[in-house]
Amino acid sequence: MDTNESTGIPFAEGPPSREWLSLAAICLDTESGAALRQLVEGTPFLRLQAEVQSYLAEEDASLTWTQPPGPDICLIDFDRDRAKASITAERIHERLPGTALFAISSQSQPDLIIEGMRCGCSEYLIKPVGGEQLWKAVARVGVRKRERHAPVSGQVLTFLGAKGGAGATTITTHLAALLAKCCSRKTLLIDLHPGCGEAALFLGLTEHQYHFYELVENVDRLDSELLQSFVLHHSSGLDVLPAPEIKDRVRDVLPESVGQAVAFLRTKYEFVLIDCSPGLTNQNLAVITHSDHVYIITVAEVAALRNVARLLDYFTRREFGQDKVDVIVNRHNAKNNVITDAQIEKAIRKKVFWNVPNHYQQVIQTINAGDPSAQLSNSAVARSLLSWAEALGGKPEAQAEKKKWGRYFLGLFGDKG
Ligand SMILES: Nc1ncnc2c1ncn2[C@@H]1O[C@H](COP(=O)(O)OP(=O)(O)O)[C@@H](O)[C@H]1O
Ligand SMILES: [Mg+2]
Repeated sequence: MDTNESTGIPFAEGPPSREWLSLAAICLDTESGAALRQLVEGTPFLRLQAEVQSYLAEEDASLTWTQPPGPDICLIDFDRDRAKASITAERIHERLPGTALFAISSQSQPDLIIEGMRCGCSEYLIKPVGGEQLWKAVARVGVRKRERHAPVSGQVLTFLGAKGGAGATTITTHLAALLAKCCSRKTLLIDLHPGCGEAALFLGLTEHQYHFYELVENVDRLDSELLQSFVLHHSSGLDVLPAPEIKDRVRDVLPESVGQAVAFLRTKYEFVLIDCSPGLTNQNLAVITHSDHVYIITVAEVAALRNVARLLDYFTRREFGQDKVDVIVNRHNAKNNVITDAQIEKAIRKKVFWNVPNHYQQVIQTINAGDPSAQLSNSAVARSLLSWAEALGGKPEAQAEKKKWGRYFLGLFGDKG
């Protein structure tokens, strides 16, 4: 049996496992330490991975238990030295974003609790710890871990404009609402713009309390319940995580945390559509890594097509797989294109996947009405995107059901055709 690096306390046997929750304790006082050990001993799926009696210094980065992915839970006693405890929490939060941090303290003033939360703690437990309070906090992490490791179900589709104004937001909002409404697919739209995204606005959702980056900041305590408190519900059935407003303070979020949030969200939705700002920013790259498919939205203009060619080159160099990237020509005008379809495909050295027709009035009308799925009779753009949505999310059973009812009604009216 291995022994603990600092105290000689034996490790639990065997390697870390998905079924276990591993814990580390830092500077716990005697009573809290005893309560924790009692909980671990009485709970088969808990393992005490490390128990140390000093706060984490820079050089401790080499300790085995501080290597990613780290323990599932790290309990830090804040009473011995608050400043050092905060630095320890920040260090662990930055280095091990998947580790849930519990602050333990006998002090319960609100400003101290907020301070604990700010340095990355998802729980603030008041002494004496133990019993139900500790058990419930640990159980919450267990539920989140299970949800995170739930079998991957959803598809993550990322939409990247070749340049600003190419139509990425228009296309993403249309497709997402159509997947939700017309294909009955559980769909989430994420607006990844770091500020001033327009996806929620295009869907008539002008009021929101939270944005996507706040959800990412809370990724270590993300579960279904927290998610529900963040998403906006659109009349089409679509859920939306909007972008921050100008006035919203956005802290620097780690690209790994963005990736972790997307990985969780795909376990909750059948489709996760992500509207990106143009360019290969760190955030965009983080979601692209977790994407099943990337759609580059362009218009038939020289500058945009040049960017498409560059993006495709980039994806080839990074071995992202040409089959996972498609190019969409928006505002396509079959009759009056200055640059022809053949010239486009020659310039980008790839077949165009979808042409979306150019109808400015219709698109503006849809934005004003706020629901692309309610505009099918008025909008050739929405109808074009419905065909794409059906190709992506049309459920064969649903189609069969429709045909069955179609036959039933024809039968009623005497047409046995
Ligand atoms: N298929 C289309 N036909 C006509 N106008 C469009 C079409 N798609 C987008 N637009 C218009 O182009 C402008 C930019 O679209 P937007 O979706 O905001 O681009 P992006 O998100 O790439 O910056 C908007 O005014 C929108 O109404
Ligand atoms: Mg946009």
